[in-house]
Amino acid sequence: MASLITKQLFLVIVMTCLLECFLCADCPQSCSCVSSPPYFTVTCNSPNLTSVPSGVPRNCTGFVIRGTKVSALRNGDLAGLPNLNTIYFDNNQIFTVEVDAFVPSLTYIEMVQNEISALPAGVFGRLKKLTSLDMRWNRIKSIPKGCIKDLPLLQVVYLEGNGLESIEVGAFSNTSKLTVISLEDNSITEIRKGAFLGPQAKMANVGLARNAISHIDEGAFAVFGNLGGLGLANNSLKSVEGAFSGLKAVGGLDLSYNKLQSLSDAAFSGITEMSTLNLAFNEIEVIFGKTFASLSTLTVLGLQSNKLASFDVVLPNTLTTLELQNNLLTSFPNLPTSLTYLDISSNPIEFMADKQFAKLGSLTTLCLSNIRYFRQKGTIDAGILQGLSQLTTLKLASNNLTQVPSSALQHFPQMSETLDLSDNQITSLHPGDFTNLSNLYILILKGNNITSVSPDALKPLKGLFSLDLSHNPIVYLGPDLFKWQSQSMYEVKLEGTKLRLIDGDIFNSSTGMKSLFFENNDMRYLPWNVFNPLTYYGETLSFIFRDLSPVGDPQEALDLESNPWLCDCQMYEYARWQNSTQGIVAASLTCQDPPELRNKTLREIPLEQFKCICSHFSTPSIDTTGSDANATSGQGAVLKCNVTACPEAVILWSTPRGITLANNSPHPGLEVLDDGSLVIVETVPADTGTYSCMAANYLGQTTAYLRLEVIPSSRLP
Ligand SMILES: *[C@@H]1O[C@H](CO)[C@@H](O)[C@H](O)[C@H]1NC(C)=O
Ligand SMILES: *[C@@H]1O[C@H](CO)[C@@H](O)[C@H](O)[C@H]1NC(C)=O
Ligand SMILES: *[C@@H]1O[C@H](CO)[C@@H](O)[C@H](O)[C@H]1NC(C)=O
Ligand SMILES: *[C@@H]1O[C@H](CO)[C@@H](O)[C@H](O)[C@H]1NC(C)=O
Ligand SMILES: *[C@@H]1O[C@H](CO)[C@@H](O)[C@H](O)[C@H]1NC(C)=O
Ligand SMILES: *[C@@H]1O[C@H](CO)[C@@H](O)[C@H](O)[C@H]1NC(C)=O
Ligand SMILES: *[C@@H]1O[C@H](CO)[C@@H](O)[C@H](O)[C@H]1NC(C)=O
Ligand SMILES: *[C@@H]1O[C@H](CO)[C@@H](O)[C@H](O)[C@H]1NC(C)=O
Ligand SMILES: *[C@@H]1O[C@H](CO)[C@@H](O)[C@H](O)[C@H]1NC(C)=O
Ligand SMILES: *[C@@H]1O[C@H](CO)[C@@H](O)[C@H](O)[C@H]1NC(C)=O
Ligand SMILES: *[C@@H]1O[C@H](CO)[C@@H](O)[C@H](O)[C@H]1NC(C)=O
Ligand SMILES: *[C@@H]1O[C@H](CO)[C@@H](O)[C@H](O)[C@H]1NC(C)=O
Repeated sequence: MASLITKQLFLVIVMTCLLECFLCADCPQSCSCVSSPPYFTVTCNSPNLTSVPSGVPRNCTGFVIRGTKVSALRNGDLAGLPNLNTIYFDNNQIFTVEVDAFVPSLTYIEMVQNEISALPAGVFGRLKKLTSLDMRWNRIKSIPKGCIKDLPLLQVVYLEGNGLESIEVGAFSNTSKLTVISLEDNSITEIRKGAFLGPQAKMANVGLARNAISHIDEGAFAVFGNLGGLGLANNSLKSVEGAFSGLKAVGGLDLSYNKLQSLSDAAFSGITEMSTLNLAFNEIEVIFGKTFASLSTLTVLGLQSNKLASFDVVLPNTLTTLELQNNLLTSFPNLPTSLTYLDISSNPIEFMADKQFAKLGSLTTLCLSNIRYFRQKGTIDAGILQGLSQLTTLKLASNNLTQVPSSALQHFPQMSETLDLSDNQITSLHPGDFTNLSNLYILILKGNNITSVSPDALKPLKGLFSLDLSHNPIVYLGPDLFKWQSQSMYEVKLEGTKLRLIDGDIFNSSTGMKSLFFENNDMRYLPWNVFNPLTYYGETLSFIFRDLSPVGDPQEALDLESNPWLCDCQMYEYARWQNSTQGIVAASLTCQDPPELRNKTLREIPLEQFKCICSHFSTPSIDTTGSDANATSGQGAVLKCNVTACPEAVILWSTPRGITLANNSPHPGLEVLDDGSLVIVETVPADTGTYSCMAANYLGQTTAYLRLEVIPSSRLP
């Protein structure tokens, strides 16, 4: 019995071996053959291969040659393979393709990144089954007449990146199923009428972006009648008069990044259907009034970055998105009420009326950054934005605003997405600044002159998710800053500020914070407990993996890089906490001082090395003797803050005008000296009030208050 089983096993082994030998004998050397009926794929990727291997099994359906030194595809190379339908010959050195090399059974040809320099006439002539031709990144200089002709099943042609200079008349003809013609990244200079001869597919996408086209024959695209998309971006067109004649419909027309200077009434006159028209980044100075009048289904129009000084144009009332930013408009144009998205930023508009946008009541996004009228006033008049009851996003960046324009913003309780006030001159935030913006999600205050932020200023923003305070001269963030956003806060950006000191209780209430950016600041140490309340950073690993798919864009991160961290006794407790908490995933913190620990990360340093040399450890004490109490308007004043503390304390001043500063953060007219004194260079009566000097080290903090009286000089004799 046992011997019978052994015999059967032996037989099976012999048969298997025979079959394997039979297979390997049939597969060309240095190729592999895989059968998965009905497919039989032969793959020859040996880097040293120099010609198409012969002896490929007759029933081969797919042939792969990739990354070899094969330099030619010759007549007969694919002969004797009646079922061959797919070839992938990418990344070889194929230079020559002989005219009868392709066999009629082919449906799919992919020969990306070879050295093919010419397509002989008739090379595709027999391929009545061909559906896809991909010859991107070769060196084909021209598509000759009759090249892509009478191919009844052909659907896609990719010829990007070939250095193509011309498409001969009749290059494409009678390809009525062709829906993608991709000719981007070539050097084509003109499109001749007849380059695409009929009949051609309806709704095709023709890609001609990133060429050198400066001329298009009248009616060159007429043969399509109805195009899905026509991409002509990044060419050298100065005019498109007549180029689109005969074209009745085109889903999207991209003419951005050309050299267009004007558009006449006739530019698009034959086209009755078009949904997207991109004319951005041209040099258009003039658009005639009826240019877009026939485009009765247009929804998106891009005209940004042109030279339009006026815009007296009839726009279809189907238009929902209009981009007019970066032009030379001096007055606000008449626009259709259908708009939901309008960007008219960076225009030298000289005047905006009360209720200027009232007619545009459907707007959900309005971008009004860098507008001359606002810049000159430094504010937004209270009534200008009235009537925008659907607005969810408002951009008011780069408008030279010195305060949050709260009276203009109070009309937007519905604003639920983004308010962008970046790159203005806002110096402080006040409790009334964001009244009624309780639904706001993202607040961007990047690049202002804000020196501190209080919870009271943020109080109305109950739904805030992301706050960007980066690139402000902020020196201090106090306790419980986000206490009114206990449920919502996710992200705070504080990179590139002057941050010196952060209160250990800052995140006490906003425990869901997951994305914190503190890089490029001036912090020397961190209170040990600062991240402790955060469920994400403060708890154990299991907690971290609980929620890996946050809403929106923000990333989960904690970035503390590029601060002059001083790894002494002040950092001891933080280092200990960090070592005991597996929660900190992203925090890398590199010491700058003391010199012997420079460039070491916190985790590398044994705890006993976090030391301070103090004969007497103490919380700071402050001596203000010698401070000016009175000053005459126009004179300078000096307020003293002589701090005794070990380890050394951080000194922060706050002024009655709401400025907070340290010795690394000068503010116009104010300076903190290295000895802790505050210098007011030239006093004005508004400088009268109570100043505070706060000194803090890890042991605690002390604040001294000083009053300064500035007497108007006119009161003096
Ligand atoms: C092709 O032929 C080989 C033997 O030469 C065989 O193993 C394979 O199953 C065949 N494949 C198909 C799809 O007919
Ligand atoms: C390819 O050729 C080089 C040098 O001629 C040789 O060292 C290498 O082993 C060859 N590689 C293969 C896969 O045959
Ligand atoms: C288009 O091609 C088909 C099939 O290849 C052919 O029958 C027809 O005559 C051609 N039509 C034109 C106008 O060339
Ligand atoms: C055109 O060029 C610009 C600038 O290089 C680029 O940003 C843009 O994506 C290009 N557009 C197209 C469609 O190629
Ligand atoms: C900014 O506003 C101030 C007045 O607040 C004005 O003097 C200044 O010219 C404005 N700057 C610009 C660039 O308009
Ligand atoms: C804001 O800061 C810049 C750079 O320090 C300064 O030139 C400008 O005068 C400041 N503006 C205000 C309003 O304080
Ligand atoms: C704030 O919104 C409420 C309605 O939500 C409104 O009654 C009130 O007038 C608004 N405040 C201001 C200052 O407009
Ligand atoms: C923050 O939480 C800690 C620990 O629960 C507590 O001791 C501290 O008083 C809180 N701080 C604030 C400002 O509520
Ligand atoms: C610390 O790193 C910086 C940048 O990598 C390097 O220039 C410097 O020499 C390093 N200092 C020490 C003491 O290793
Ligand atoms: C971190 O904690 C472990 C014990 O949990 C301890 O063995 C190790 O020395 C600590 N590392 C540092 C840098 O203090
Ligand atoms: C400052 O002025 C007040 C009156 O305005 C006067 O009482 C006080 O003595 C003055 N203080 C100093 C230090 O000159
Ligand atoms: C600061 O106070 C210390 C000790 O109280 C004293 O020795 C020192 O002279 C004071 N410095 C200044 C600039 O007043």
